[in-house]
Amino acid sequence: MNSLERVASCVAQVEPRLKEMPRIGIVLGSGLGALAEALNDAVVIPYADIEGFPVSTAPGHVGRYLFGRLEDVPVVLMQGRVHLYEGVTVEEAVLPVRVMAALGVEAILLTNAAGAIADAIDVGHFCALKDHIAQFVPSPLIGANVDAWGPRFPDMSEVYDPALRAMLVEAGREAGCVMHEGVYIQFTGPAYETPAEIRMARTLGADVVGMSTVIEAVAARHMGVRLCGVSLATNKAAGLGGTLSEEEVIEEGQRAAQRFQTMVRGFLRSFHEVEGER
Ligand code: HPA
Repeated sequence: MNSLERVASCVAQVEPRLKEMPRIGIVLGSGLGALAEALNDAVVIPYADIEGFPVSTAPGHVGRYLFGRLEDVPVVLMQGRVHLYEGVTVEEAVLPVRVMAALGVEAILLTNAAGAIADAIDVGHFCALKDHIAQFVPSPLIGANVDAWGPRFPDMSEVYDPALRAMLVEAGREAGCVMHEGVYIQFTGPAYETPAEIRMARTLGADVVGMSTVIEAVAARHMGVRLCGVSLATNKAAGLGGTLSEEEVIEEGQRAAQRFQTMVRGFLRSFHEVEGER
C-alpha cells in the first residue's frame, strides 16, 4: 500500500463511526491529554483498532482519537501521537495527522511539550509557533509526491496561520497563560539535547525545542490545512539551568492542564465566531 492508499484505508475505517465530521483537529502533546476528558458523548477510536495505524508507546500518550464537540465546534482530538524516536518511519509518524486532514478538518492545532531556549520563556509559559526549523528531521514529503494532497514543492513561507495564532494568543492571555510567540525546532530525540546543541539551535533562531510537531506541520501544510501550533515550556533546554526528565515534562503538563483547556476553549469560540458555521 502506498501512503495515499494507507490514509484512505484508515479514513474508510474511521468515517462510518462518526456522528458528524470534525472541523478542527487538535493534537494533544505530552501531559496535555486531559482535555480529552472535557469532551461529552465522544466517539472514541483507539489507534490500535485502526488497521495500518501506528500505535504510540510514549509515556503520557494514551493513543486514541476522540470525536465530539467542544464549545459547540465539532473537533477531533488526538490523545497521543507517535514520535520518530519510537522507531516508526516519518510516513507513519504523520499518518494520524494526514487522516485528520483527509477527514476534511479546516484547521489543526498542534500542541506539544518543549524545552525553552529563549531567555524570556520560563517553565509553565506557552509559546505560539510563528515558524519552525525542519532541517534536522526527515521530511514526510520525501518519495513520490501525492498530487491529490499537494504540490511537489510546497511553499512553507507561512506554515502557521497568523489569524489562528492571534486567536490562540488572545485566548491564552484571557486564560491567564503567559504567551510568547517563537520558532520551534524539532530534533529526533529520544536523548534530550546537549548544551552545545542548544547553543546551536539558539544561534539558528529557535526559541523552543521538541521531538514532534514539525513533521506533522509539514505534512498537514502540504495538504493545505490551516495550522496553529503551541508549545508548553516544561523545562529550560539543556544547559540553561534546571533539569531534564520525562517526569518533569508530564508534571508541568498536568500543572498547566486547566489553563491550557481554557485557552483551547477560547480559541474554539473565536474560531466559531470568525468562521461561522460550515
Ligand atoms: N527537548 C526536547 N524535547 C522536549 C524538551 C526538551 O528540552 N522538553 C520537552 N520536550
